[in-house]
Amino acid sequence: MQTETKGKSLVDQPAWKALQTHAEQLRGRHLRELFAEDASRGERMTAEAEGIFLDYSKNRATDETLKLLLELAQQVGLRERTEAMFKGEKINITENRAVLHVALRAPKSESIVVDGEDVVPEVHKVLDKMAGFAERVRSGEWKGHTGKRIKNVINVGIGGSDLGPVMAYEALKHYSQRDMTFRFVSNVDGTDFAEAVQDLDAEETMFLIASKTFTTLETMTNAHSARDWALSKLGDEKAVAKHFVAISTNAKEVAKFGIDTENMFGFWDWVGGRYSMDSAIGLSTMIAIGPDGFREMLAGFHAMDVHFRTAPLEKNLPVLLGLLTVWYTEFFDAQTVAILPYEQYLKRFPAYLQQLTMESNGKHVTLGGTKVIYQTGPIYWGEPGTNGQHSFYQLIHQGTRLIPCDFIGFAKTLNPLGRHHDMLMANVFAQAEALAFGKTADQVKAEGTPDWLVPHRVFEGNRPSNTILADKLTPALLGKLVALYEHSVFTQGVVWNIDSFDQWGVELGKVLATRILGELESKEEPKLEHDSSTTSLIHRYRKNK
Ligand code: F6P
Repeated sequence: MQTETKGKSLVDQPAWKALQTHAEQLRGRHLRELFAEDASRGERMTAEAEGIFLDYSKNRATDETLKLLLELAQQVGLRERTEAMFKGEKINITENRAVLHVALRAPKSESIVVDGEDVVPEVHKVLDKMAGFAERVRSGEWKGHTGKRIKNVINVGIGGSDLGPVMAYEALKHYSQRDMTFRFVSNVDGTDFAEAVQDLDAEETMFLIASKTFTTLETMTNAHSARDWALSKLGDEKAVAKHFVAISTNAKEVAKFGIDTENMFGFWDWVGGRYSMDSAIGLSTMIAIGPDGFREMLAGFHAMDVHFRTAPLEKNLPVLLGLLTVWYTEFFDAQTVAILPYEQYLKRFPAYLQQLTMESNGKHVTLGGTKVIYQTGPIYWGEPGTNGQHSFYQLIHQGTRLIPCDFIGFAKTLNPLGRHHDMLMANVFAQAEALAFGKTADQVKAEGTPDWLVPHRVFEGNRPSNTILADKLTPALLGKLVALYEHSVFTQGVVWNIDSFDQWGVELGKVLATRILGELESKEEPKLEHDSSTTSLIHRYRKNK
């Protein structure tokens, strides 16, 4: 079993040691100086690929930093690990699985073999089946049990079976079929389901039960409630066939639930939940934007895959983003990364990235099982601009923490409206500028500020950000953007030498919840064997429920 990367632990890699020394030297330097010393910095420290432009010049980094980070990438074997992923090797070692979300968007002409079988034809078979189904629903050819057209689609899933679909639906709403309603039920809180269906006609409503395992408690509970709701309105078991489809890898459980496996769209254990929005899990996206739009999105994903696999590391967008995240996490003690899309349609993008990044890289042991002696995955969070500016940006500008930010903006809006878009984009550039350069005490004084107020009005600056610009938000662009972050997460995981594709950390809570559920529901007073806090909370709940 692999315990170290290329025979060395991360902290013993020559580039890591060099980065430690380099970070000490750079810590006292201000972005104001770095820009003043180097007039070409703003143009040079950029990279562009597949219509995505990355300005990383406002980072607390120099050419030397980049050189060392790129050396580190080489020393930890980023290229080899990337090839291993693309070739279908079982790099998810704790689950003994290949990691092949890249196969979901591979063109028909490619071949990727897992366990002796080329998976690409299977991928396209499912895509074709999805396309046929999506067309029938969109055109109204698919009728509900009583002969009415399906107008409402409700995706029932959680985690990767929800966050990707809801993010993609919101992101691509502009391209969606507007006479249909799309909703997403994820929370086991009954309110989520109740609110989703309260104004819908069951005769016109279809449920997509999306669950890789088809055993997830929340999803199965919601799926059964959906079934009860539909049958109570439609009054006939046979209605299930017209109003329920399943998206899963588990045909046995799907059949047990009562969904005909003819109405099941499959995927494979080599697709991680958080990497599945472009598999059958994206069926709601395909129904919303149509098969052509979905294929455009896949082509976008694929274009970024090819870029990641083949572009030189120094021009490689996911590599640059990933390495800069490692840089701040390790050497500047940054705890978080803020994702700030200046595009209303990307309002769920930060939430989507939270699972992608944190379920992937929130790990405390190396591939070999030894406890890491460095930090791993940072906390990702964010909100669309400009709303965040009137909420948490204060802390980013003047608080005591270093918070690297990713600003995401577009040259064109999908909804031109007076000066709105220029105003929006002016804010992107202004925020990144203010964070980097701040405002000195002298500048504040020169404005006539009384001495006592000066410290409060000083902006230290030297706060790093990336600016990501593209032309406009399209299905293809969304695919590129998601793949950019997927591969950035991969890059980080390779440096940290962790398994970015398992998620054992979600298990304990699930087991305990099942046990406690029995205790909450039992008619007789249960014999509780918890700690005193949990015991008294359970007693209080039982008394008051
Ligand atoms: O939260 C754990 C998790 O396993 C995620 O990784 C996954 O996306 C989610 O649950 C949902 O799982 P499933 O698609 O099997 O219902």
